Amino acid sequence: MRWIDGLEAAAAEKLPEPVHRYFRQGSAGGLSVGEAVDAWSSYRFRPRVLTDVSTISTGTTVLGTPVAGPVLVAPTTMQRQADPDGEAAMSAGVAAAGSVLGVSSNAGTTYAEIGAAGAPWWLQIYVTRNRDYTRQMLDAAVAAGARAVVLTADTPVVGRKEDEGQTVWDLVQPGHLRANVDESAYSDDDLAKADDLTPDVIDWLGSSTGLPVVVKGVLRGDDARRCVDAGAAGLIVSNHGGRQLDGAIATAHALPEVVQAVAGTNTEVYVDGGIRRGEHVLTALALGARAVFVGRPALWALTVGSSPGVTRLLTDLYAEFAHALTLVGVPGPEHLTPDLIS
Ligand code: FNR
Repeated sequence: MRWIDGLEAAAAEKLPEPVHRYFRQGSAGGLSVGEAVDAWSSYRFRPRVLTDVSTISTGTTVLGTPVAGPVLVAPTTMQRQADPDGEAAMSAGVAAAGSVLGVSSNAGTTYAEIGAAGAPWWLQIYVTRNRDYTRQMLDAAVAAGARAVVLTADTPVVGRKEDEGQTVWDLVQPGHLRANVDESAYSDDDLAKADDLTPDVIDWLGSSTGLPVVVKGVLRGDDARRCVDAGAAGLIVSNHGGRQLDGAIATAHALPEVVQAVAGTNTEVYVDGGIRRGEHVLTALALGARAVFVGRPALWALTVGSSPGVTRLLTDLYAEFAHALTLVGVPGPEHLTPDLIS
């Protein structure tokens, strides 16, 4: 068995049950979370033969930042439930693998600590009803060296999870969630997620920070186009790991339409959800993604092996991707094309 395949079970032995459940679960009936992995495995390859694959390179760039492989870490909350050093430990592990870290709006570690731990990082943002609060978070992230802003656009409200009994919210310590801005001056209503956003917010985020804006949660070509027309530098095809609208289309199936909609622009398209193997990475890149993100596997790896666990997860996936590249007859990500997929 691959080390990656045993990670969730190993993490479950270490985590309190409500934390494991929170990491694992999808929203409502669990349809989208349940089919994400299989959707990647539904594609088949049309490999090339008699090509020179004696030198394989997995490296690429994401918004100009070089990465050793096209597997990045998705923004997730509650990382201090997985490791006492939370996002700082995640950052150190990502840095050692030469990748990029997405940092949640709800991070439980200060941006300064995360930045100092070494990985290039992008701030994920939920825009709140009170924009001053969002603005403070953006300013803090810029000061700590964030290289991009990732607007999560699929969360006008948080998707309902079917929980019973104790939940992660009963366990989280004060300060281990949203550690970056003092919330005491704000009401619950101020901090609720804005449910009236339009593409104009992309320009606001870009001009407030001077950073490229990536929109996360895009599943349709027409929305992709609206985001790019409004100034987005990148898009993440995502259904939030099946945690928002249950029954939302699998990202493996939504990706081609989004790629096609922004063809001819220099928009970078990324994808997340159910990516668990090098062959899934190969599929995503052949379909036009620049890179992929992994969410839950990084939480399991952080739980089980702290920073070195995260490094191993990413380097194992790069190695599998390199192996799959060799077998599909292509020496590097820049040579992948959709005709390799059927
Ligand atoms: C998430 N995700 C997420 N997304 C986001 O934009 N902001 C956030 O704070 C969080 N928090 C979060 C917590 C947990 C426990 C999970 C599992 C996920 C979604 C995440 O960024 C990503 O879209 C999915 O996790 C990708 O799917 P996989 O790789 O987990 O299958």
